[in-house]
Amino acid sequence: MQLNVNGTQHDVDVDEDMPLLWVLRDELNITGPKFGCGIAMCGACTVHINGMPARSCSMPVGQVSGLITTIEGLGTPDAMHEVQAAWVEHQVAQCGYCQPGQIMSAAALLQMNPNPDDEAIDRAMSANLCRCGTYPRIRAAIKAAAQTIREKSA
Ligand code: FES
Ligand code: FES
Repeated sequence: MQLNVNGTQHDVDVDEDMPLLWVLRDELNITGPKFGCGIAMCGACTVHINGMPARSCSMPVGQVSGLITTIEGLGTPDAMHEVQAAWVEHQVAQCGYCQPGQIMSAAALLQMNPNPDDEAIDRAMSANLCRCGTYPRIRAAIKAAAQTIREKSA
């Protein structure tokens, strides 16, 4: 089957029931999305499908249609997405394991709502768990990224 990941078309020969996360990591060697719980409860595996956040651990690859974006496709070290830049500025990551999923959820939130208040941030991010408890820095970085995005579009 054909999969478009980060703008590149891939031909993969896998069972349609295989979770997208497995295909990304084990077949395509795209290892930004992480395995946390495997049951759509932690958010570590979050990717975008057509710009919307999706739990790739619980999505059979056969049901995926559209453009898949992983953390590798969000930005580059030289041209970071606003969320990534804010994450660096606020030194959000601790162990880092949950952070690709956090960043992908945050980027999807700001795509839909460029000016989220605390409640909107908590609602959008509540299903992304962080065992290191980086939540205050995540919230601060989302607000900083939102401000950058608003300034750029002003
Ligand atoms: S690994 Fe997918 S939500 Fe936890
Ligand atoms: S930074 Fe360690 S789990 Fe979130």
